[in-house]
Amino acid sequence: MSESYDADAVALSDGMLRRESGRLLIEDVPVDALVERFSAPLFVLSESTLRRQARRIRAAFERAWPQGEVLVLPAVKANPVLALQRVLAQEGMGADLVGAGELEVAVRAGIDPALISLNGTGKDRATIERAVALGARVTIDDVREIELSAAAACAVGKQANLRIRLRPYYETDARMEAFGTPIADVYGTYKSGVPYDDLAEAGRALSAPELRVTGVMMHMGRYTTDLSVIGGYSRRFGELTAEVSDLWGGWTPDTIDVGGGFAPQIDGFGRADPSFIPPVPPSIERYAEVVCENLTKGLTSGGIGVEGRTLEVEPGRALFGPCGIHVATLLNVKRQTQPFPFTWYETDTTQLFLSEIPDEAGRPPVTPVRLPETGTAVDVRVVGRSCMSDVLARTATLPAMSAGDLLAFCFTGAYNDANASNLNLLPRPATVLVNGAQAHLVRRAESIEDLLVRDTLPDHLRHTFTGAAR
Ligand SMILES: Cc1ncc(COP(=O)(O)O)c(C=O)c1O
Repeated sequence: MSESYDADAVALSDGMLRRESGRLLIEDVPVDALVERFSAPLFVLSESTLRRQARRIRAAFERAWPQGEVLVLPAVKANPVLALQRVLAQEGMGADLVGAGELEVAVRAGIDPALISLNGTGKDRATIERAVALGARVTIDDVREIELSAAAACAVGKQANLRIRLRPYYETDARMEAFGTPIADVYGTYKSGVPYDDLAEAGRALSAPELRVTGVMMHMGRYTTDLSVIGGYSRRFGELTAEVSDLWGGWTPDTIDVGGGFAPQIDGFGRADPSFIPPVPPSIERYAEVVCENLTKGLTSGGIGVEGRTLEVEPGRALFGPCGIHVATLLNVKRQTQPFPFTWYETDTTQLFLSEIPDEAGRPPVTPVRLPETGTAVDVRVVGRSCMSDVLARTATLPAMSAGDLLAFCFTGAYNDANASNLNLLPRPATVLVNGAQAHLVRRAESIEDLLVRDTLPDHLRHTFTGAAR
């Protein structure tokens, strides 16, 4: 039997998943009952796990940053489902977001605009104006956005609250764990943030009465779980903040945002490569200690005290990843004996919906929704239904299963649905939110009609042509 997968999934789920007589439950709801009600493929998120994760992350940083307030601004991109954003709003969380769509979700979720950061490169004037009108903060990625923010402030008659996104460059030989790319190259070329060359010019924002510059921000990305690199980068961010303070005649930030990039402990990242044994990621408490300790060192070495400054943090994967599963139906078991014996479990889902598998070489633990009482384990390749190679699990040791049985891909609450695409015009799955014994549809599945609704035929193509000349 697939002990390792099942043990990974259930034991590591921090109580979100359990089994009763072999039947998988998420909170108090049997997963097969969810599929009966909402059909598969299906994303299922646990409300209590989301609340618990959010509180744990906040508590970890509060412990590590006792000298000031801690604000958590979850990355909306990781899972923009409105109901999830509402849960986080109720928890007093803010939002790190990109673009007009994510801003709209945050507003509808009821997130306090003062806790919203409009981030991202290439911001447009209309979105900046909406953010300023709402009282949200604009995280400046380029000096051009300072001009746009000033214009927006004048247009809406409200001072614009800005934070400057910095680009700390940290020399390291470390490589991205899963892909081997040198991390220093990524730090040096990643597009986001105001280049060092433009920081002096950006300081002109300080004298514009329609603008208020209140903070600095960085995002180190999830390139490594090596705490020495994460610490080094955090320290460099502190030093760079102090350099900016010098450049700007002694200005200091009220808020300091360390971004996201924290791996959840049950992280599928990079595991699709069987030769790569990923290190166990640090706990969020360790991340918080290392980031805060080194940030403090960097700031104080440049003469900036930390007392009373607000720390901000933008978790994505670490917050949403552990809160969800994706359920698929086994459609067919296909076998060959030549050129070598091989078995495929063909499912009704796809890597297009579990996009972390191809994008991040992820390998979420996959486990049967019902464990048979007897039977032998088999090594199978679990595949999806798109025309891509669609390998969902390269080699999974699973019970002998048959068409109609269900599989759960665990800890898939971050980025999968958000990145899902419609190749082969496959409609994207629904999302259900479970709370105790209750389950609510919070995002319906797409229909084929949804997928065709944007298409129109011009007049000269309105009629089907029969007997066309070649
Ligand atoms: C600015 C910013 N903050 C936070 C995040 C969240 O990162 P993660 O999901 O790795 O925690 C991202 C992700 O790309 C980001 O770009």
